[in-house]
Amino acid sequence: MEIFALHAAAESALESGLLAHLVARPSRAEEAAAALGLDARGVSLVLEVLRTRGLIEADEGRYLIPPRLRRELEGPGGNVPLNSTVWAGTPKLVRSGETLFRGHVGARGAAYSEVVARLGALFEISANTLARALAPDLPADARILDVGSGSGVWSLALLAHRGEAWVTALDLEPVVPRFEEAARARGLTERVDILAGDYFTVEVPRGAFDVIVIANVLHLETPERAVALLARLVPSLRPRGRVVIVDAFPSLDGDGTTRHAAYALHLGLRVPGAYPHLESTVRRWLAERAFDEVERVPLEDEPVLMAALVARQDPASEKRGRD
Ligand SMILES: C[S@@+](CC[C@H](N)C(=O)[O-])C[C@H]1O[C@@H](n2cnc3c(N)ncnc32)[C@H](O)[C@@H]1O
Repeated sequence: MEIFALHAAAESALESGLLAHLVARPSRAEEAAAALGLDARGVSLVLEVLRTRGLIEADEGRYLIPPRLRRELEGPGGNVPLNSTVWAGTPKLVRSGETLFRGHVGARGAAYSEVVARLGALFEISANTLARALAPDLPADARILDVGSGSGVWSLALLAHRGEAWVTALDLEPVVPRFEEAARARGLTERVDILAGDYFTVEVPRGAFDVIVIANVLHLETPERAVALLARLVPSLRPRGRVVIVDAFPSLDGDGTTRHAAYALHLGLRVPGAYPHLESTVRRWLAERAFDEVERVPLEDEPVLMAALVARQDPASEKRGRD
C-alpha cells in the first residue's frame, strides 16, 4: 500500500498547488485547503503521508517545505511545470527508452536553445563563487574556452573578474544566440567570440587557452564519449593551463542515495546515454591524462550537489602527450 499512497499523495499535492503553496506560506491543512479551494480532510491525509516520508515537515501543526526541497519547487530552475513535463516521461522511458530530447545533435541544439537561459539564472550565484576563487590565479589576459557554453554563465562571470580576459564559446548553432544575448546584457561583446558546432567535430585551435570550462556537459555523455571529449580538448590548452569541470557530483552522498538515483533518472529522462558520473570517476579520467593537481571548489548543495574540479597537468608526467 505504501508505494501507492506515496505516489498518489505526491502527485495530488503537486497538481493541486499544495506544495507550491507551502513553499510560499507554511500552513495548517485547513488554512492551505481554504486558500486553494480544496477539501481540508483530503489535504490533511495527503500531507501526513508526505510528512512521514520526510518530504514535508510539520511545526506546531503547520506544514512546511524543508530547505533542501524548496529549490525543486520554486523557480528559476526547479519550477513545478518544468519538472512535471520531464517526470511525466517516466512511463515512456520505462516502456521504450524514449527520452525527452532526441539523440542526434540537431535536436539537442534546438532543445537547449530553449533552456540554457534558465540554467544560467539557476547557476549565477555558483558561477560568481567559482569566478572569485579562480580569477586571482589566472593571467589578466587569460584566454578561456567554454565548451557547451549555453548562456556562458560560468565563463562570463570569469570575464567580469579579469579585465583583459577573452572567452571563446563553443556550442551548437541554435544555442549560440543565447550566449550572445548574455554577453550583450553584461556589456562584454568586445571580449567574446564563437565556435559554433558539435564539440566532437568542430576545429578547436591547439595550445590556445589558459582555461577550458566544461560545465554541466560531461553528464550528458556516456563514460566513453566523456573521456573522448576530454582527450580531444586537452591539446587546446596552453602549458600549465587549467581544465575546469563543473558538474553535479553526488560523491559526498555516494552512489545509492535517493538524490543520486533521482538525478540519474532525471538526466536519463531527458538525454539518451546521460548519467551523473561520480567525482571519483572524473578525477580518474583527469589523472589518466596527467591532471594530477586538482583543486575542488564546492558550489551549491541543492537541488543537486555541485562542485568545480580545477585541474592542471603535471609538466613532468609521461602521460601528458598521450591521446
Ligand atoms: C546542460 S547545458 C549546460 C550549459 C552551460 N554550460 C551551463 O552550465 O549552464 C549543456 C550544453 O552543452 C551543449 N551541447 C550539448 N551537446 C553538444 C555538442 N555535441 N556540441 C556542442 N555543444 C553541445 C548544449 O547545447 C548546452 O548548451
